[in-house]
Amino acid sequence: MRQAGRYLPEYRELRAQAGDFLTLAGTPELACRVTLQPVERFGLDAAIIFSDILTIPHAMGLGLHFLPGEGPCFEHPVRDHHAIAALTPPDPETDLGYVMAALRLTRQELAGRIPLIGFAGSPWTLATYMVEGGSSKDFARIKAMVYDRPADAHALLEVLTRATTAYLNAQIAAGAQAVQIFDTWGGVLEPDHFRAFSRDYIARIIDGLTRTVDGRRVPVIVFTKNGGQWLEWLAETGCDALGLDWTTDPAEARRRVGDRVALQGNLDPCVLYARPTTVQSEVHRVCDRFGDEPGHVFNLGHGVHPAIDPEHVAALVAAVHERASGPGQPR
Ligand code: CP3
Repeated sequence: MRQAGRYLPEYRELRAQAGDFLTLAGTPELACRVTLQPVERFGLDAAIIFSDILTIPHAMGLGLHFLPGEGPCFEHPVRDHHAIAALTPPDPETDLGYVMAALRLTRQELAGRIPLIGFAGSPWTLATYMVEGGSSKDFARIKAMVYDRPADAHALLEVLTRATTAYLNAQIAAGAQAVQIFDTWGGVLEPDHFRAFSRDYIARIIDGLTRTVDGRRVPVIVFTKNGGQWLEWLAETGCDALGLDWTTDPAEARRRVGDRVALQGNLDPCVLYARPTTVQSEVHRVCDRFGDEPGHVFNLGHGVHPAIDPEHVAALVAAVHERASGPGQPR
């Protein structure tokens, strides 16, 4: 869950050297170094490749920019059926070859020490950025499309589903040992629409993924932010694990999904603004809520905010490791 980034001085330094975020993410040697920064600093148990979910629309020619303080912005947003019909899935090995090169290099650098996670956005989440032209508070345009012109929305989600399936399979071929699908904006939909416009496309992607490499399972993790009310529906996508944000009670989540999926989460990232001793007691509280059964992957409920003191993240990792190496808890 976004473990590299602006809260790390070594990240800010490399980004300044590269000039901007897209150059940093687009240069395999630099993306590899950024991926390893939090791993080396904190001794994390998994690495997530440094990239972005917007690589797909970027490769589709929408003209991505990151404006300081404003987040992502597309020069050519997709607003009508002509623009949607003109979209074609990028070729992952050529158009997105820099991501595959970063994965190969990072696997090599990690040398089997910890697993490497690949990722993509859900089609719905990508569609929100592509139709709105960037981040949004009310999702006015994409929601108008869903209500007035559902066929256009489905055509867009269809091409994004094909693109994302090919992209994640290429990541797996390039060395990603698990993949996570970020459905950051699934939680803004009403329930029927969540199933029809987000969940079902995620399930189709999972259905098309390579699930074993060299006899090893490649787990698929699905994270719908604000999706706690739909855990049963999400568990039906065929995923191996569900990411939980901090608004979902872990014990209740476990009761609802049984042992069908592992659960990942779910510390409120704002806990990291509190004192290190508080961070540590909150880590224990989260672990207590998950209980002693297997199938809990400790994580934040969302990414680390830019103003967080790295020492507080170090306190978090120490508490998780202390807990995980306790009696009866093999690491
Ligand atoms: O920890 C890691 O190394 C993983 C890297 C990662 C990034 N983006 C790097 C990034 C991951 C997993 C993402 C996923 C992503 N990107 C999501 C889904 C996860 C989530 O947070 O909900 C979304 C919605 C995006 C789209 C995106 N990219 C936005 C909205 C922004 C601007 C946000 C901001 O903090 O300014 C980005 C840029 C981005 N992607 C940054 C990083 C580290 C910040 C860029 C910078 O200023 O250096």
